[in-house]
Amino acid sequence: MLTKDIRYWSKELESGNETVDNQHKRLLFQFQKLEDAINDGHGSEKIAGLVLFLHSYVLKHFNTEQQLMLAHEYPGYSTHAEKHDEYKNRVFKFKKHYSKFPNDPQNIQLAKSILFNWFKDHIMEFDKKFINFLKDNTKVIEKTKVESEWAPSDSHLWTTGMLIGHELIDAQHIELVKQAEYLNNQKHIEKKELLERFDYFQSFLLNHFTDEEIFIIEIDFPDCQHHTLLHSEIRNKFVGVKRNMENNFEDESELELDELKNKLLDFMNSYIKHIHEKDMLFKKYYQSLNK
Ligand SMILES: [Fe+2]
Ligand SMILES: [Fe+2]
Ligand SMILES: [Fe+2]
Ligand SMILES: [Fe+2]
Repeated sequence: MLTKDIRYWSKELESGNETVDNQHKRLLFQFQKLEDAINDGHGSEKIAGLVLFLHSYVLKHFNTEQQLMLAHEYPGYSTHAEKHDEYKNRVFKFKKHYSKFPNDPQNIQLAKSILFNWFKDHIMEFDKKFINFLKDNTKVIEKTKVESEWAPSDSHLWTTGMLIGHELIDAQHIELVKQAEYLNNQKHIEKKELLERFDYFQSFLLNHFTDEEIFIIEIDFPDCQHHTLLHSEIRNKFVGVKRNMENNFEDESELELDELKNKLLDFMNSYIKHIHEKDMLFKKYYQSLNK
């Protein structure tokens, strides 16, 4: 795929971030292929492939952008993330409609108007704003990596009943439990480490939600739209708490650090609760498929 072959690509869409640019090019190219197929009268043959491609690729792409926004402390993050959620909903709805009525002659136009046009407009308006911000703020706020060799061996938060049967999702859930236990066992925590833990958990949540959403769409979990909504709520709440914490660090006393540590722990525990209560619903569904 050569850049010159992508009709909707222009120099001004270049962000300078190779991953984002390549993802945009790939997405625009897929839509372009759909448009060409529609014009040649073969649109309906392309739709199934497009929907399949879209759901996973778009989720990965949104995750890439949102991680970058947070790493650069982009002020327009919340509005932009809301737009991404809106699009995810469109993909869900279209997918549902398409699986019910695969031969609906409206499908092609629907795909074009609600999926393609939205995406083009989104890049032009919202991504461009973010791209311009990136150009002026190339420096990533320096964040050190959190070591992960401190896993406690005996976990009281983990039970094998929590295993879903999907390697990646299970590994991520286990990682979360380990993080929570580690934090719980820390008597005193330094400011630097605490900030790192907040960063780590934020990036972990975004990645995990993306992977889990791709998985539940893949298995056609009937409640995936609602589950995704729950993720958005958790994610937005956490990003807000984290921002607030970073802006209001006052005396850095042991008391304040402890309070913040407990806030983070509360969040981790509430996510573990989400695994127990909500993730177990798609586990059940997944297991019923394998019977
Ligand atoms: Fe984008
Ligand atoms: Fe975007
Ligand atoms: Fe999960
Ligand atoms: Fe979940």
